[in-house]
Amino acid sequence: MRVAMIGTGYVGLVSGACFSEFGHHVVCVDKDASKIEALKAGKIPIFEPGLDEVVAANVKAGRLSFTTDLKSAVPEADAVFIAVGTPSRRGDGHADLAYMFGAAKEIAEALVGYTVVVNKSTVPVGTGQKVEDTIRSVRPDADFDVASNPEFLREGSAIEDFRHPDRIVCGTTSERAANVLRELYRPLFLNETPIVFTSRESSELIKYAGNAFLATKIMFINEMADICERVGANVQDVARGIGLDGRIGKKFLNAGPGYGGSCFPKDTLALLRTAEEVNAPTAIVAAVVQANDRRKIAMAEKIDAAFGGVKGKRIAVLGLTFKPNTDDMRDAPSLVIVPWLKEHGADIHAYDPEGKKEAEKLLDVTHCPDAYTALNGADGVVILTEWNEFRALDLVKTKKLLKRPLMVDLRNIYRPQLMADAGYTYVSVGRATVKPK
Ligand code: UDX
Repeated sequence: MRVAMIGTGYVGLVSGACFSEFGHHVVCVDKDASKIEALKAGKIPIFEPGLDEVVAANVKAGRLSFTTDLKSAVPEADAVFIAVGTPSRRGDGHADLAYMFGAAKEIAEALVGYTVVVNKSTVPVGTGQKVEDTIRSVRPDADFDVASNPEFLREGSAIEDFRHPDRIVCGTTSERAANVLRELYRPLFLNETPIVFTSRESSELIKYAGNAFLATKIMFINEMADICERVGANVQDVARGIGLDGRIGKKFLNAGPGYGGSCFPKDTLALLRTAEEVNAPTAIVAAVVQANDRRKIAMAEKIDAAFGGVKGKRIAVLGLTFKPNTDDMRDAPSLVIVPWLKEHGADIHAYDPEGKKEAEKLLDVTHCPDAYTALNGADGVVILTEWNEFRALDLVKTKKLLKRPLMVDLRNIYRPQLMADAGYTYVSVGRATVKPK
């Protein structure tokens, strides 16, 4: 099959590269000429484990190419994926669909022969219909269907997620379009990956409902963590105890500083707006959004309490990205917590393995080249992101470098007993604080 992937952001690039690995011929299109030049030169603009290898291998095999020229890529394609950004519109939280409709118009002008136009971007329910209307108004003669095919890739494990998804969701009622999508995903079909064919509207809502549900799960366990701290329970035991119930499931029950990233914050807000618009308000999602906003401030206050007031204290912060294995800082809890600490008089020395370049633009703190430099001379350390390299700090060395052996671990990556034995005051989430023996 021949695929044109419009937009080489996170979703477009990963999906395009992985479709080419399935044996399809993929042309990735982007308006940003410098990005396309970089990709042609083998430079990947984002940090995603394994992506560079997949891109390089398929470029070499002649199945993957990059261009700024949409008009040359679309006529050849059996399927044109729209994977452009749909950021939160300033002020009202609606998904901004300007790029989406811009792309739809350009695609319309270039269509030749039967083509399936597939929305991969996260778009509010009803957008598929609007894209179809847009294309139809530009090209009344064109032979096409518009389908919805949301992505569920997690940053940091996107390649693995693409190769082994829990399910594929395809929103179309056209049998011709369904056949093209079946062919595109054939390698997964053979692997017995469930493929859910449904209406376009259901498919569009599945994406938002899925993300909102996961965000709810996270905020639920965060609230349980607060209760655990008050009653002397352990949130990890509670999570395991409820997660083993197959109806609940054990994933996404890690308590922490709240959710961030490119999807959950944006998609929960957009779902709220849709719900209001159609007069079916969702009290649950509204509460989740509010709880997540509050959570970050509460975590800053927790740090303040652990340090006996952060004013005049030097604090080592480990991890700034919204999660490990990415350089993405979008809506990272650090963007609220670190400025709060600074405003309250702390001197922050931070280290993030991949996020430094992005974080430097957003956070005015001392950015250190490694964890131990950040720790050196600090009054204590705060773990904000659970990068693997923070799980195995040399605790003896760390203790010597710190002025006080205090660790606030907002990701629960250490065992309290181990930390007490190593001589630390250790404050974590939803578990009792321990002090040195
Ligand atoms: C998410 C969805 O998982 C994915 O299906 C969708 O396509 C895009 O959005 P991503 O944003 O990459 O993926 O990260 P994810 O691993 O889901 O984590 C999101 C946020 O939730 C992170 O800030 C993470 O730290 C937080 N989280 C996740 C928790 O606090 N606890 C958990 O148990 C899981």
